[in-house]
Amino acid sequence: MAPKKEYKDLRSARWFAPDDLRSFGHRSRAMQMGLDSEDWEGKPVIAIINTWSDLSPCHHHLRDRAEYVKQGVYQAGGLPVEMPVHSFSEQFLKPTSMLYRNMGAMEVEETIRAHPVDGVVLLGGCDKSTPALVMGAVSAGVPFIFLPAGAMLRGNYAGAKLGSGTDVWKYWDERRAGTIGKEQWDGVQGGIARSYGTCMTMGTASTMMSIAEGFGLTLPGASSIPAPDAGHKRMSKACGRRIVDMVWEDLTPDKIITPASTRNATVVAMATGCSTNAIIHLIAMARRAGIDWGLDDLDAVGHEIPVLANIRPTGKEYLMEDFFYAGGLPALMKELGDKLDTSVVTVTGKTLGETIADAQNYNDDVIRPLSNPVYHQGSLAVLRGNLAPDGAVIKPAAMDAKFMVHRGPAIVADTYAEMKKIISDPDYPMTPDSVLILRNAGPQGGPGMPEWGMIPMPQALLKDGHRDMVRLSDARMSGTSYGACVLHVAPEAYVGGPLALVKTGDIIAMDIPSRTLNVEVSDEDLAERRKAWVAPEPRYERGYGAMFSKHIEQADKGCDFDFLTTDYGAPVPEPEI
Ligand code: FES
Ligand code: MG
Repeated sequence: MAPKKEYKDLRSARWFAPDDLRSFGHRSRAMQMGLDSEDWEGKPVIAIINTWSDLSPCHHHLRDRAEYVKQGVYQAGGLPVEMPVHSFSEQFLKPTSMLYRNMGAMEVEETIRAHPVDGVVLLGGCDKSTPALVMGAVSAGVPFIFLPAGAMLRGNYAGAKLGSGTDVWKYWDERRAGTIGKEQWDGVQGGIARSYGTCMTMGTASTMMSIAEGFGLTLPGASSIPAPDAGHKRMSKACGRRIVDMVWEDLTPDKIITPASTRNATVVAMATGCSTNAIIHLIAMARRAGIDWGLDDLDAVGHEIPVLANIRPTGKEYLMEDFFYAGGLPALMKELGDKLDTSVVTVTGKTLGETIADAQNYNDDVIRPLSNPVYHQGSLAVLRGNLAPDGAVIKPAAMDAKFMVHRGPAIVADTYAEMKKIISDPDYPMTPDSVLILRNAGPQGGPGMPEWGMIPMPQALLKDGHRDMVRLSDARMSGTSYGACVLHVAPEAYVGGPLALVKTGDIIAMDIPSRTLNVEVSDEDLAERRKAWVAPEPRYERGYGAMFSKHIEQADKGCDFDFLTTDYGAPVPEPEI
């Protein structure tokens, strides 16, 4: 692509070039850090936005990788500057990392806008970090590349391949059922996370990194390289080189995130057997680019696109490392053929078609062809009805098929603590048809919509050998989870969605093929119950939580803050210097 910009056009030149008092200040303070005019004159400033922290095991290598990005930036004639942001540690952040996704996105947007930055490399991958980084950078509007952290190595215990999350839930159920003891449980603990990098199942992290590549926001293949692979260092350097050219080419995010690339990202999500969380983040990312993308668009793509990636938890056997050896995401995109619009431009400056032209599938059991999918269609399904007028989500690809059409009596818990009591009681009255309902766990109620939606199987059913049942909530679940879990019920109970009106014993009817979800209570009775319903107090009265409670949107809109969406007020102007 031919250069479109000269040095005088760059944002950073506004800080460094003028012969005036303010620019004197910028230059003298750059010199304070050991820089010289040769470091900035005529050169784009590239921010390396880094989500490394000592409490972010998935991003443990990103401080090192930032050094490789810097090398690439220098090679291409730019000035790299590393800028730390919130780390989004999925495991350690409480009450849930989702509470902080938008805060992180705001931080990224404002960090870019407020500084002399011409281009950005985003370093992240653990669940919420990908959408937060992308949402913020899209709103800031400068050219950027996303460098995925990459997945960790396969887990290993006693010769068994362990998958992040997925095998934790599995072994925990076995421990509670008494089929494994403390020693085996400890062995799993030591073997399930053997290296830095993100969860190596097709959980939220791998899904979101793949979606970023599906949007065209990464260099080809970047989302599938395992974190400890030397190729990840080379990819880091390549991102540093490429972003400098992107600045000269003025390849801004609005040229990459388009309706066509949003559809591509959704196709990729479905073909990977994506995490249910992907739905929320995809909608939020697209809306930041001004693209109206919602649950019905996702469901329509889901109807058409089969799951091709044979990765747990949807697939039975393989993990992200196997996916990489099989050719990774470029090979999967090639298998998708004309399901993707290959005319879109990616961060490479070339079309998607050009970038995947030479991709090869080295193992067609890991990356299945369209003629032999892992799951025929509809990895995710959107349900609606009197229980979820604005939609709910389920992952039929990762549940027992006998629940596809189901009727059963509700067992309702208003809090997680209440639900814990129910599932820990071996004598709690329930049947395999019962529907466990957890409410007040949505964006407002959670708060922050925690991953409580895969309610552990109750002792009362576990002891009889049951390993799946219908569970329903306004919460999310981890992307590594599985089971007949209806999630993201909107509107949530805490703001008075119909879920708030359900009583224990009500019959819940779910029909996934016809996409319906209802409580079999008449409109009149529901109206009566609504009269008696009392709205709970907001969760927070001060601090970030107070802002969150005031501005968070419901799950079907992507849980962004209302004031961050593209059409909220006039665009933010460039800062005065
Ligand atoms: Fe970081 Fe799973 S905990 S990706
Ligand atoms: Mg997760």
